[in-house]
Amino acid sequence: MERIDKIISKAKNISRSEASSFVKKGLVAVDGKTVKSPAQKAEPSQSEILFCGERVIYSEFIYIMMNKPKGVISASEGKNEKTVIDILPPELRRRKLFPAGRLDKDTTGFMLITDDGAFAHRILSPKNHIPKTYIATVDKPVTEQVIRAFEQGVLLKDEKCLPAKIQKENSDFTVARVTIHQGMYHQIKRMFAAFGITVTELERIKMGGLELDYSLEKGQCRLLSSKEIELIENGK
Ligand code: URA
Repeated sequence: MERIDKIISKAKNISRSEASSFVKKGLVAVDGKTVKSPAQKAEPSQSEILFCGERVIYSEFIYIMMNKPKGVISASEGKNEKTVIDILPPELRRRKLFPAGRLDKDTTGFMLITDDGAFAHRILSPKNHIPKTYIATVDKPVTEQVIRAFEQGVLLKDEKCLPAKIQKENSDFTVARVTIHQGMYHQIKRMFAAFGITVTELERIKMGGLELDYSLEKGQCRLLSSKEIELIENGK
């Protein structure tokens, strides 16, 4: 059970005090009865909650897949730069949303945005080794030496990366599918750079067992189902 002002505030992306004032004006009803106090509790999964006559769809947390475009940063706030949060459509905006993990400004593809800190922590924790798959376009063909090094773990400065999988995606191997199990800073670009190779395009196409939904245009996003959320954490 949760307080009705909290439910309304989350579902409608408004402050608790704004939600309270809607309740006090008699604009919120639970199972057909107008709610009198913002402190009244309700169970959103079992009750019909109406806000200004409209059914409230409530979930404690939300999980959004964005097909990140180039030119936006994966942060919650950017001083002079547009963030992935800034480009969310109004109906998906909620306070406390943040990108779970980083993509460079010029990297595109699967960006997960959520307000569930514990989930984000679990999928990003290096201990859990959740795989992330990228398509990297590079400026020269990938060699056998690179493949072996990726598979053994590339040494970056003083840190050795965990073994990564690399597969050929085009005839001359200037496009590669790379799966890593960590999220080190600029990891893919630095792994290639260790062999004098420059990444010219980078797109994340999979997190855990969940693939990017290619029906999303760059900059578009949608909510994930509980099955999809589960696939990120426990899928292959
Ligand atoms: N590795 C990179 O180099 N950049 C990204 O955005 C993600 C992984």
